Amino acid sequence: MDSSSVTDAIKNLVESQKIKTKNVATSISGHSVIIRKIQLPIMTEEEMEASIQWEAEQYIPFEISEVNLDFQIIGPDAKDPSQMNVILVAAKKDFVNDYVAVFQECGLSPVVMDVDCFAIQNSFEINYGASDEEIVALINMGASAMNVNILKEGASVFTRDIQVGGNMFNEEIQKRLGLSGEDAEKVKLGGEAEDVDPAAVEEVVSESIENLTQEVQRSLDFFSATSSDEKVQKIFITGGVSKSSQVKESLEQRLGIPVEMLEPFRQIAVSEKDFDLEYIKAVGPLFSVAVGLAMRRLGDK
Ligand SMILES: Nc1ncnc2c1ncn2[C@@H]1O[C@H](COP(=O)(O)OP(=O)(O)OP(=O)(O)O)[C@@H](O)[C@H]1O
Ligand SMILES: [Mg+2]
Repeated sequence: MDSSSVTDAIKNLVESQKIKTKNVATSISGHSVIIRKIQLPIMTEEEMEASIQWEAEQYIPFEISEVNLDFQIIGPDAKDPSQMNVILVAAKKDFVNDYVAVFQECGLSPVVMDVDCFAIQNSFEINYGASDEEIVALINMGASAMNVNILKEGASVFTRDIQVGGNMFNEEIQKRLGLSGEDAEKVKLGGEAEDVDPAAVEEVVSESIENLTQEVQRSLDFFSATSSDEKVQKIFITGGVSKSSQVKESLEQRLGIPVEMLEPFRQIAVSEKDFDLEYIKAVGPLFSVAVGLAMRRLGDK
């Protein structure tokens, strides 16, 4: 909505960090992106390429001419080897173009356009290895939304974006305690503001966490209901909101599943000389998407 603030922030960052490369990998999520896991008769990448427009029509609720399409062949279906599993992604052209324009405005060239939940998956893969037998859910809890990606033996079998996140906490605090947006963010993170009762803040935060937890449960229940009762055995959480220890506790309590913080720098060697390791650990949850994107290369699909 405010692209000039975004371009200013990116320009400042590139300048202050003396970043030389112009190539950028970025990712999108939300209503303008549709991800579908579909089954098709076994065919080659080239055949798929030729028929994707036509195949996509029945799965994508937008005009095909208004979206960018892409796909990834996952492999033959376990139950029916004449079929293959494919992940289909459609993103509204308008939305993608707005993103691209922001980077061009900064003098950068976006060479990879990913999806948040797949970037998180790449970040998870490099840090935790590809395939366990387990079914795990990766949940990125950001400011405006949560991205859920459920993996079975390392492959994505279910994705969903839930349109609530950390902003909901702020809105509730603002509404109920009559604070500005800035103060709401401050007291949410444990800071103080004039005439604000910390107990009242705590109450709103707890309720918001309860809300988020319910939303996550709804998604996991929906996954189970639509996948012959398979159950998620472990959850990895990341994103700013996951930094609250209450979030982990609330999820564990309600869902009865172990919950762990995804550490995006777990397998990445960080020089103690150049970086403050405490800081790296503290900001880790904010970097899961970025680490996943940093793994990408032009034409690596
Ligand atoms: N310690 C903390 N406890 C609770 N919430 C926190 C904490 N630190 C940051 N947050 C919240 O996390 C959110 C930011 O997280 P993140 O950077 O993952 O989001 P984002 O990627 O900018 O958002 P989105 O992708 O949804 O647009 C903000 O709502 C912020 O208030
Ligand atoms: Mg995010």
